[in-house]
Amino acid sequence: MKKVYIKTYGCQMNFYDSRKIKALLVKNGYEIVGCPEKSDIIVVNTCSVRKHAEDRALSFLSSYKHIKKKGGILCLLGCIASLYKEDIYKKYDFINVVCTPDNYNKLPEVLKIYDSERICITGESKNPFISENLIIDSDVSSFVTITKGCENFCSYCVVPFTRGKLMSKKPEGIYSEVEYLVEKGVGEIILLGQNVNEYGKDTGDNFSDLLEKIHNIKGLVRLGFLTSHPKDIHNALIVLFRDLPKLYRYLHLPLQSGSDRILKLMNRKYTFAQYIEIIDKVRKVAPDITITSDIIVGFPSETEDDFNDTVKAIKNIEFDDLFVFKYSQRPLTSASLMEDDVPNGEKERRHRIILGIQEEIAIKRNKRFTGRTDDVFVLKQADKKNGYFLGRSSSNKMVLFKSIYSKPGTLENITLTSADRRYIYGCSSC
Ligand code: 5AD
Ligand code: SF4
Repeated sequence: MKKVYIKTYGCQMNFYDSRKIKALLVKNGYEIVGCPEKSDIIVVNTCSVRKHAEDRALSFLSSYKHIKKKGGILCLLGCIASLYKEDIYKKYDFINVVCTPDNYNKLPEVLKIYDSERICITGESKNPFISENLIIDSDVSSFVTITKGCENFCSYCVVPFTRGKLMSKKPEGIYSEVEYLVEKGVGEIILLGQNVNEYGKDTGDNFSDLLEKIHNIKGLVRLGFLTSHPKDIHNALIVLFRDLPKLYRYLHLPLQSGSDRILKLMNRKYTFAQYIEIIDKVRKVAPDITITSDIIVGFPSETEDDFNDTVKAIKNIEFDDLFVFKYSQRPLTSASLMEDDVPNGEKERRHRIILGIQEEIAIKRNKRFTGRTDDVFVLKQADKKNGYFLGRSSSNKMVLFKSIYSKPGTLENITLTSADRRYIYGCSSC
């Protein structure tokens, strides 16, 4: 039985794909191992959303060149494979297999090759979704990808080139995957898509309907979704934050910039005023909602004034949390035709300033929950010695609570007593 080690970089979707690949390989007689040194095959699932992510994945693969001397196989999957295809295969001749996400179903056959053989699979596929499932006994939470690809072409983003056109899974397939997971003891499902609320645009299906139907699956405890685009947030979706009790009061809604000039150059298809309008609506319907966002600093031509618009936006909106990225020029994107003219030191300064501002806001946003009780979804025991469990509040905040015994995968009513940057603290019987 060949032993496979899988290393994953990048977004939740890559982690979901890796779990599916594991399931597929196990079904086909491979053994998954947790240590690269003990494997016959090393598979690296890569990300290319920023240059840094690419460099890390390629350097990891290079550092295992030596396993080839013992007949080992090195395999590169994911977005780097999609973006560079044959070029990466030609450039790194120590890599045996290059395989794009649409072709993962072919992996069990492909990995039968011998040490010196090489193969590059990058063509289109009629069967891009893996249907096999793998459940690890203790899992109480799972991602479920419902769309792949994106056709929004934000000017900085490589995803439309690596993941292709929007492709929505059939609702029936999604229900049966969720039902299977719930039956195996998973209580929390997080639906995934590059632009998840665009679900069904290609098939005539509807995201809000899908959410309602999944919500009604018996045994499901909590439901969430990632990542939403502001242009596709409609009233039918907003009201679900009020009407579906199992749905996390949580919205990840990338703003990217507070400057209308930069938003236009980014091809984001909304103005700051339109973004604020959505936030106001959502908060009116669901006052306890957690809203997080992504920001890019140092986009080409971003001036101090543009940056200050972003700072003002962040102070004004008060996000619960932020992911802040320094602009990284990516091949094939339309922004790659613009000069990457904000010096790295300046990108770093802007990055630091925003993180500093957000630190205070995040603490304040966590503290607003103290003094209340909430039904917390229990994830796992965090600290056995001191009797702490980790869970997620109904607004998707991490809760660390004291309890003698709590059952992962269920809800528990917790009194929330204090908060800091990372956690809300509480106890089950105080
Ligand atoms: N440079 C920096 N950040 C980027 N992101 C996407 N592409 C780039 C890029 N070229 C960020 C965006 C997106 C998040 C997943 O990654 O903020 O929302
Ligand atoms: Fe990239 Fe924009 Fe699509 Fe998000 S919506 S994946 S940022 S192109």
